[in-house]
Amino acid sequence: MILGIESTAHTFGIALLEKKKFLCNLKSVYTTEKGGIIPIEAAKHHEAIKEKLLREALKKAKINLEDIKCIAYSHGPGLAPCLLQGLDLAKKIASKLKVPLVPVNHCIAHLEIGSTTGAKDPVLLYVSGANTQVIAYAEGKYRVFGETLDIGIGNFIDSFARYVGIGFPAGPKIEELAKKSKNFVMLPYTVKGMDVAFSGLLTNLKQKYDSGNYALEDLAFSLQEVAFAMLIEVAERAMAHLDKKELLLGGGVACNRRLQEMAKIMCKERKAKCFIPKAEFLVDNAAMIAWLGQKMFEAGIQVKANKADINPYERTDEVEVIWKS
Ligand code: ATP
Ligand code: FE2
Repeated sequence: MILGIESTAHTFGIALLEKKKFLCNLKSVYTTEKGGIIPIEAAKHHEAIKEKLLREALKKAKINLEDIKCIAYSHGPGLAPCLLQGLDLAKKIASKLKVPLVPVNHCIAHLEIGSTTGAKDPVLLYVSGANTQVIAYAEGKYRVFGETLDIGIGNFIDSFARYVGIGFPAGPKIEELAKKSKNFVMLPYTVKGMDVAFSGLLTNLKQKYDSGNYALEDLAFSLQEVAFAMLIEVAERAMAHLDKKELLLGGGVACNRRLQEMAKIMCKERKAKCFIPKAEFLVDNAAMIAWLGQKMFEAGIQVKANKADINPYERTDEVEVIWKS
């Protein structure tokens, strides 16, 4: 029985995994009506709800705390005050039960949860709040083949939404607005080799909004068309170069139906398969932390409670992927 704890940013999550079966996957999300995420406020939210969420999880899974044999927690990357809340709970339970901890990389967890879909050797398009990367596994590491040169796609969408007075997280609201339009407005498209950039697009969208000459629906629609086309272009190029026949989507922005549709069309055209995990596994969640934690634990990775730490800046390609070999 593995307990998974997620706390990198806005979401505090608790999951319980027994063998390959999830007994529960609970979360509590810090949200705002206006404005973005304030790290200290998010951490306070986590602190206030974590014990209660743990009790709920045990009840839902119908187990006792003592049944837990190992605790997987998010080690990074993320906001330090938030990561510390997860670490604190993980250490507390580990010391009490005298069980080991497994430090899990949050980004790799977003990718590894993709194995629940049946994907074997995919190119991964990882699109979340802070991250936008095209990744594939090669020789012991997840290698980053392309990424954003400035902000993550989710933060880009949330920033534009915040500018026009929509709260956080804004992705689903922008998606709803976009459905109301088919009126395409020209926007800057920035792909450089295998990389993408969104800040020019963001500035341009803000200017168009301020001019008062454009309907918000039309801007939301065009934002999606342009930003997602950029993502699909780099994902396709990576598939062609690496000669891979599978695409896997991961991260919260992959919940977007239009992005999913574009990914499926691209895959169909090149006779590849497109894999999309369930929405509860796309956004931040503790199930993915428990899932990867279990693989790492079985490969012999563990730390003692007094040695456990966090790494807010841990990169995807820093982690030695010994559980796959
Ligand atoms: P990271 O994984 O980089 O640390 P994160 O933890 O903030 O980032 P996730 O929870 O994976 O990321 O994703 C959150 C992001 O997903 C937010 O920016 C949110 O606006 C976006 N998002 C959620 N649903 C949708 C949607 N339907 N369309 C577009 N974006 C969406
Ligand atoms: Fe995430």
